[in-house]
Amino acid sequence: MDFWKQFKPGFTVLAPMEGVTDIAFRQVIAKAARPDIFYTEFTNVNSYTSEKGRHNALERFRIEESEKPIIPQIWGTKPDMFLETAQALKKIGFLAVDINMGCPDRHVVATGGGSGLIRTPELAREIIRTTKTAGLPVSVKTRLGYTRVDEWRNWLTNIFQESPAALTIHLRTKKEMSKVPAHYELIPEIIELKNQISPDTKLIINGDIELPADAEKYINMGVDGIMIGRGVFHNPFCFEKTPREHSREELIGLMSYHLDLYEKYQLTPYDPLKHFYKIYINNFPGASEIRDRLMQTKTISEARAIIEQI
Ligand SMILES: Cc1cc2nc3c(=O)[nH]c(=O)nc-3n(C[C@H](O)[C@H](O)[C@H](O)COP(=O)(O)O)c2cc1C
Repeated sequence: MDFWKQFKPGFTVLAPMEGVTDIAFRQVIAKAARPDIFYTEFTNVNSYTSEKGRHNALERFRIEESEKPIIPQIWGTKPDMFLETAQALKKIGFLAVDINMGCPDRHVVATGGGSGLIRTPELAREIIRTTKTAGLPVSVKTRLGYTRVDEWRNWLTNIFQESPAALTIHLRTKKEMSKVPAHYELIPEIIELKNQISPDTKLIINGDIELPADAEKYINMGVDGIMIGRGVFHNPFCFEKTPREHSREELIGLMSYHLDLYEKYQLTPYDPLKHFYKIYINNFPGASEIRDRLMQTKTISEARAIIEQI
């Protein structure tokens, strides 16, 4: 089966988000309203290929049936390590793999990985070519350029010439981080370039989309898929086919499910879990006081005791 062929134009994707889209939160979204595709958080190929890091990497590749189809995302700079990791992912049973070429984090960029690869297009191309030899469809997630928006044509030409199965484009440069509006005006030209060089590559757009319906006009232009990241913080039901209002009880129910999953998978430490509470405890009278109390908690049981009183 060709993994990418199963998705019809307008398919939806939950963005990979380090520290957010772990096995627990992906299942929360699967329960609320699932996208067509999930991605894992990114995992460094150095960690999979080293004995010390392998256990951690395998933890990050752990998935449940309810999350399928799901694509593991990997990052790094060494083509042979990409190959070894992709071969392992294939053995584990994944049907596709994604390469991160867009992360702006300074620690990642300092190694030459993530958006650092935009400055070494020959290496980026070699990584795609080498990873493909593992036998999985290879996709890429990147940005328009490193410093200037007008780098996009040259950079994306390099990527399309390697015919990735899919390309997700976060419509900003590395330098822009997430500070300026995404450059949606470039979509027609990006589609044209893709159709000239690699018409079979699926094009997924990303950046500031809150609901799939917001991006519908780009599907009509020739975009294939819509990726939403931070939109799930404002609305965990954003992938719903028919959007509707959700009650406080539903949101608290989701939070309770999140706590259960955090315990089930023995995820630690506790504090990062608190970042999620504002997703669920929001927009109702007294929400901010309840959030303040939740922020003081030190264990899942304490948090559970508070939401049970609501
Ligand atoms: C907390 C956080 C972690 C992220 N981690 C990753 C990651 O692991 N891999 C990746 O490709 N992008 C990562 N991103 C970028 C998102 O996938 C997405 O491209 C970006 O947030 C823009 O989309 P949005 O406006 O829909 O959020 C991350 C973003 C955030 C906010």
